[in-house]
Amino acid sequence: MKIAVLPGDGIGTEIVAEAVKVLQALDLKFEMETALVGGAAYEAHGHPLPESTLELAKEADAVLFGAVGDWKYDKLDRPLRPEQAVLGLRKNLGLFANFRPAICYDELVGASSLKPELVSGLDILIIRELTGDIYFGQPRGRRTAVDGHFPGAEEAFDTMRYSRPEIERIAHVAFQAARKRSKRVTSVDKANVLETFQLWKDVVTEVGKEYPDVALDHMYVDNAAMQLVKAPKKFDVVVTGNMFGDILSDEAAMLTGSIGMLPSASLNASSQGLYEPSHGSAPDIAGKGIANPLATILSAAMMLRFSLDQPEAADRIESAVKDVLASGLRTVDIFSEGTKKVGTREMGDAVVAAITTTKKITKS
Ligand code: IPM
Ligand code: MG
Repeated sequence: MKIAVLPGDGIGTEIVAEAVKVLQALDLKFEMETALVGGAAYEAHGHPLPESTLELAKEADAVLFGAVGDWKYDKLDRPLRPEQAVLGLRKNLGLFANFRPAICYDELVGASSLKPELVSGLDILIIRELTGDIYFGQPRGRRTAVDGHFPGAEEAFDTMRYSRPEIERIAHVAFQAARKRSKRVTSVDKANVLETFQLWKDVVTEVGKEYPDVALDHMYVDNAAMQLVKAPKKFDVVVTGNMFGDILSDEAAMLTGSIGMLPSASLNASSQGLYEPSHGSAPDIAGKGIANPLATILSAAMMLRFSLDQPEAADRIESAVKDVLASGLRTVDIFSEGTKKVGTREMGDAVVAAITTTKKITKS
């Protein structure tokens, strides 16, 4: 089992170190190799995704990724910005299926900005298409307008596009995921306005006929954004395109009150995957030792389950995280009155200790 470890920028290095520690506490043999990515790689090699990092990611079974980005790179040409590293990895590894669970842990119900009764027990899985849509559609660029409202003016444009096979494969992923849950899929589109999303809706409907046991409904993205804050528990699996998924997954994450808790997985057709926390590089708190490592630790659990075929080890990490929360330890982002505030490293140590304890219990 080879893991490419790409900590990246900001809090990335701190949180990935904790996840690595947790992986090392399991009785499994991994080959782990670390490489630079994002702004850190730009500083050292002049590119956010150096060829050597990409090669390492390609030959590994899975990539454990921290976060990339810092305001200081905002002025660089787009191809050199840290974000291009994660987009380049998605594209080059064909990571088209992005899983973003939004789970509200019982202990953290109070951290949500919504009323407890709206979010307690919340368990949504957002499945975002990750290699198509307006993110990658060509052509794109800047030019002088020849028509439109202001001919002769400077304009910029991007292209939203999806092909039938791209929609089919992500739809299959969603229906298959729903079969393992409560057998409901909501497909989010903007078919009332956009051709791209009329095709999306038609194709998802067709694929849905192959899954008669799964209930499918369709929702426009504006309504979905509203329903997510009105009655989030009505959703189970949500499947949508790249851009809508970007936006709705942040919204869903915040319902749980703690984006610092949410892992994600991005998979290709051969189950190779990139695993990263749903949050970003948080340069404002980098180096302070206060970032929450749990999203990254839970991403490592998803990695064990989806790419490394070690479901029991994944369960062990997830129950260790629950035990640690139950014991009252909190990083600052999820801290509340009556709990104990800890830093990044202490949180990682506590998860390791919880894993080691369960190991002892199962062995005796
Ligand atoms: C995400 C991020 C990325 C995206 C950025 C960093 C390119 O927001 O993973 O959701 O837009 O996909
Ligand atoms: Mg995003």
